[in-house]
Amino acid sequence: MIVCFGSINLDLVFPLPALPLPGQTVLGKAMHTEPGGKGANQAVAAARDGGQVLFAGAVGQDALADQALALLKDAGVDLSRVARTDTSTGCASICVDPQGGNHIAVASGANLLAVQSQVEDALLGPSTTVLLQAETDLAETATLIRRAKARGARVVLNLAPAAKLADDALRAVDVLVVNEDEGRWLGDSLGTGGDAAALHAALGMAVVRTLGGDGLEVATGHGVRTLPVHKVEVVDTTAAGDCFTGVLAAALDRGLDLNAAIRRATVAAALCCAKAGSQGSLPWAAATGTALAA
Ligand code: RIB
Repeated sequence: MIVCFGSINLDLVFPLPALPLPGQTVLGKAMHTEPGGKGANQAVAAARDGGQVLFAGAVGQDALADQALALLKDAGVDLSRVARTDTSTGCASICVDPQGGNHIAVASGANLLAVQSQVEDALLGPSTTVLLQAETDLAETATLIRRAKARGARVVLNLAPAAKLADDALRAVDVLVVNEDEGRWLGDSLGTGGDAAALHAALGMAVVRTLGGDGLEVATGHGVRTLPVHKVEVVDTTAAGDCFTGVLAAALDRGLDLNAAIRRATVAAALCCAKAGSQGSLPWAAATGTALAA
């Protein structure tokens, strides 16, 4: 099973003619809301891809909470370890331009109150894949990684957004997923390069560095490989990285090898880019399977 410890947000999505520059106001036609948060997006992506997913995180007791949880519930994610706190539910403002690019600002709120003890030891073992990002408290994330490793679980970390995680916890990760910015940031903080090869050499685990429209590179003990994107007409890239990581975790969890899991995740992420929105645009297993076979 997959245990996802992460963030839950309600996304306020603003389609705009152009992304605002600092100090600029840009008018768009209409805003819509959608469940989001990197943790929740990854959990939904994994569940829609057929994974059995349990989510540990936190929301508030406000009107945003139920909306933010709706698609997790719909995808069959176990929400019994989601805490209801007195702090407001996480909320993100997402500006999207006509080319599918975005700017995201997040008010973390209740996400920072999620604690690793919401995941009991019995859930962590050799048949568990623990899936994490960096939108919740980093000390809690580091402790959960240590506990998961000590109990033999597989740990998949998407270091998004880029953030300083305790060194021993970072090195205990089995599969690290970063984008170009996160890779560069991590490389700088380690005093090394930011590409997959350099990060793998410095840290030891399998490293996947996604490169947007240029595909991705993966570095393991067997060397470095690059993979092109699965071509689609891009509408909105929001949550594409979450989709990739969630589907990767689900595929690894059900026994696919890393190369096959990456191929599947690449196709799923492309399908996500072909639809507007964040969590709502995450593909179900059948659609990914069909695109993969085409
Ligand atoms: O990766 C996209 C996500 O980042 C959005 O859903 C938003 O909530 C932020 O967490």
